[in-house]
Amino acid sequence: MNRIQKPEIIVTRAVPDAVAKALTDHFSVSLNLNDIPFSERELKQALESADGLICTVSDQITADIISSTERRASIISNFGVGVSNIDVNCCQKLGLVVTNTPNVLTHATAEIALFLILAVSRRTTYSETKLRNNCWKGFSIVEDLGVSLAGKTLGIVGMGRIGQATAEKVINSLGMKVVFFNRSPVKDLSFRAVQLDTLAEVLTCADVVSIHAPGGTKEPILKREHFAMMKKTAFLINTARGDVVDQRALINALKTSLISGAGLDVYLDEPKVPNELFLLDNVTLLPHIGSATCETREAMGMLAVNNLKAHFFDGNYPSRII
Ligand code: DGY
Repeated sequence: MNRIQKPEIIVTRAVPDAVAKALTDHFSVSLNLNDIPFSERELKQALESADGLICTVSDQITADIISSTERRASIISNFGVGVSNIDVNCCQKLGLVVTNTPNVLTHATAEIALFLILAVSRRTTYSETKLRNNCWKGFSIVEDLGVSLAGKTLGIVGMGRIGQATAEKVINSLGMKVVFFNRSPVKDLSFRAVQLDTLAEVLTCADVVSIHAPGGTKEPILKREHFAMMKKTAFLINTARGDVVDQRALINALKTSLISGAGLDVYLDEPKVPNELFLLDNVTLLPHIGSATCETREAMGMLAVNNLKAHFFDGNYPSRII
């Protein structure tokens, strides 16, 4: 029998069973069943020993790793929409294909943004901690008060797919108004939102600022001077990437009451989270779970598999970055 050699794929982290099955149907696969993240050396070895790699946002695919003269892999299929973990410029120079998993996680991530907006405005982390520590003394008319959101203004920074889904959910469920800053004009929105010319305009008028910009840029988008522009009563929500916000400046803004609180799902040097954040009772902190639903993770995985299938079999990539 004429056996055709299947392309060899290494998967850096544990994936849903259905995704593993779809992979093994088409590829010779090495799975990471114990889910321990690969070291830099293991990532390099993976690119040297397989035809393709499925990696994710926790794998730093640096120029050094990609540039190995022994590299065999011709594709990095990222399990995630953001590719700030990959040196895409270097991949481009070396002709290495990079794909990602957009769209399928839009609503899950927007739901987490919505959750964080509610959590910080109603101070649920503070209240729940009090309850869990057996410190609740019973119903009070004047304690545990948050702020109402109806009629207030949400400022979106980065009106891409997730920014739009967040805006729409917030308008429909909370009755907030939406303004936004986006580098290019955004037209034909299916909901009412006003695009402002500058980031500063959005920051000065918003009661809640939610950032939805890709990470991996040289400088954070929100820096010290930006927190000074925000209302003292405002909240910051970040479900994008830790590096889009100057984390030190954010902590200072929270400690000095420049802003009222923050809801964070992402951090600068994950999985490290500065202890100072744990000590603040005006923040809600989540461990990068924006896309963490069973349905979404399976859909992301299938997209990562389909990108590999396109690369090796038919060239019809669902989502190729370069
Ligand atoms: C992504 O896909 O970029 C998310 O941050 C991980 O779910």
